[in-house]
Amino acid sequence: MSAAPGWDKDRARAIVEGLAALEGATLPILHALQEEFGFVDPSAAALIADALNLSLAEAHGTISFYHDFRARPAGRRVIRLCRAEACQANGGEELVAQLRARRGLDADAQDDADLTIETVYCLGNCALGPCALVDGELVGRLDVERLSELCDGAPVEAAQIAAGAER
Ligand code: FES
Repeated sequence: MSAAPGWDKDRARAIVEGLAALEGATLPILHALQEEFGFVDPSAAALIADALNLSLAEAHGTISFYHDFRARPAGRRVIRLCRAEACQANGGEELVAQLRARRGLDADAQDDADLTIETVYCLGNCALGPCALVDGELVGRLDVERLSELCDGAPVEAAQIAAGAER
């Protein structure tokens, strides 16, 4: 199986070997790989197993245990929707339901080259919910129209300005 686009095996090997001497090196290595590439290609398991003297099954087991590690690149637009309590109270779940009903987009199931939607729990912006982190930028006071436009790749700044204008 070939590695996903964006994965550089030599660079990955250098990262693994650079951190292999750490105590409990597996997690720091996985975080460093995800930081570098945005995901952890399944081929990393063999590199980690080699460097840390683990079985391949142990290395695979650790990678799959932690759901934070993606196995392939995220979409060009990444929306992390807050579904914690305060955002729920401000209509966050209704937003999720409407997005599903109108667009057929399901939080946590939508993940292709264009769009990834993930759930997060609290972005520290509770008073201005429902909130999302869109390509790393915080957007508050989301409604389904704005969220739908963001799913289509609309500029984040426009959504932030629109949210501000409603205050
Ligand atoms: S609950 Fe959503 S930002 Fe805190």
